Amino acid sequence: MNVLILGSGGRESALAWKIAGSKKLGKLFCMPGNPGTSSFAVNVDGNIKDFDAIRKAVIDNDIDMVVVGPEEPLVNGLRDYFAADMELSSVMFIGPSASGAELEGSKDFAKDFMTAHGIPTAAHFTCTASTMEEGFSFLSTLKPPYVLKADGLAAGKGVLIVDDIAQARKSLEEMLGGKFGEASSKVVIEEYLSGIELSVFVLTDGKSYMILPEAKDYKRIGEGDTGLNTGGMGAVSPVPFADGAFMKKVEDRIIRPTIAGLEKDGIEYTGFIFIGLMNCSGEPYVIEYNVRMGDPETEAVMTRIDSDLLSHLEAAACGRLSSEKISISSLSAVTVVAVSGGYPGPYRKGIGISLPECFDAVHVHGEDRAVESGSCGTGSVCRKETTGNPRACGNAGLVGGNTVLFHSGTAMENGRLVTSGGRVLAVTSLSRDLKSAAARAYENMSLISFDGMYYRHDIAEDVMKYL
Ligand code: AMP
Ligand code: GLY
Repeated sequence: MNVLILGSGGRESALAWKIAGSKKLGKLFCMPGNPGTSSFAVNVDGNIKDFDAIRKAVIDNDIDMVVVGPEEPLVNGLRDYFAADMELSSVMFIGPSASGAELEGSKDFAKDFMTAHGIPTAAHFTCTASTMEEGFSFLSTLKPPYVLKADGLAAGKGVLIVDDIAQARKSLEEMLGGKFGEASSKVVIEEYLSGIELSVFVLTDGKSYMILPEAKDYKRIGEGDTGLNTGGMGAVSPVPFADGAFMKKVEDRIIRPTIAGLEKDGIEYTGFIFIGLMNCSGEPYVIEYNVRMGDPETEAVMTRIDSDLLSHLEAAACGRLSSEKISISSLSAVTVVAVSGGYPGPYRKGIGISLPECFDAVHVHGEDRAVESGSCGTGSVCRKETTGNPRACGNAGLVGGNTVLFHSGTAMENGRLVTSGGRVLAVTSLSRDLKSAAARAYENMSLISFDGMYYRHDIAEDVMKYL
């Protein structure tokens, strides 16, 4: 099977790395990919906003399956574009139609969906310029802090959490006045949920579902969860407070009703659903749906899937996911993200990156390889560093070690690896528990350097108390 992954970040690197290990894989392509993916996939030039360029890449490379990394092409109807094209309609496609992508593309749609299907979420009121007074009245029924969300996609910046009511009213006016452009012509005002967040990932064929390993990400730039929000500075999986009892509530109250709701509403959905949840004293509430995997959660999650992801994706695309079984490693994964100085504000690009040789090509490093048997999917223990064929390890799992370096915002410039984004590299380490996985990730991160490099030193610390 030839597979094309769309996107160029750490998430797509992790998807590509995992799929590269599949026995079912013919050739793997990434559009546009990054220097990291080029070591185990063919990078195809092109802008993934350009549907005709994607079409050409699919036809030229005889692609059997397209896996979409980010939400934007989905919200803009890429799946519908494939369905309407005779030459593309038989290509397996991982990602929902534009109507399914509304779960992420419109917060108002998502809230209505949850309300209609009895899925627990924060109380809300959706406001437009003509209902601003009602919005003010709703705000006055809430306790601080106040949560205001632009309805549409706003590059992850459309959520404001403000402490006092005067500021909340002002922010509401500003948002409806165009602060986030068209995205905030509608604003969802929400009750504040107090608790601890986690990310739950589901693969679905629209009828049945498979629950992937859960994760927790670290959104703030500063240690101790301080400072500005980012795309994510690190992740852990598993999440210690997401025990069997909690996950049963998540499955019964949220996952099953979500899939049933999609089917009932006639929304065809093949692909990933990322459910952002708040654990409020042991009770799960949905904060948001995303129609993609999370970043950097994917970099942790993929390393814990022992079974063949491509087989699961194929089953999802063919509507027979109920016959697939996921196998999840008992190991713990910790991902730490290195960012460029200044991020999430303005930052420089084109800074040379120094990586030790052991990180070349496919990126494996570590002293003690003897993690646990089974981690490479073949039942054997991977002890040797390898930078060779990533598929040498069978159908899944680690490529010969317990640490993987995923590229996010990197580029090659005159034969030199340089930074090209805010989030630059993600190091994921696996070990028998989160504490030792974190220690291993930091040990490996300390071998990497570039001018202005910054990373948080406290990833995983907060969840240790639940162990
Ligand atoms: P969203 O884009 O909806 O995920 O919101 C971004 C972040 O804002 C979330 O990851 C939460 O940390 C926070 N957030 C969103 N909605 C709420 C809420 N109702 N209560 C508390 N925090 C929230
Ligand atoms: N890490 C959060 C996200 O991908 O949206």
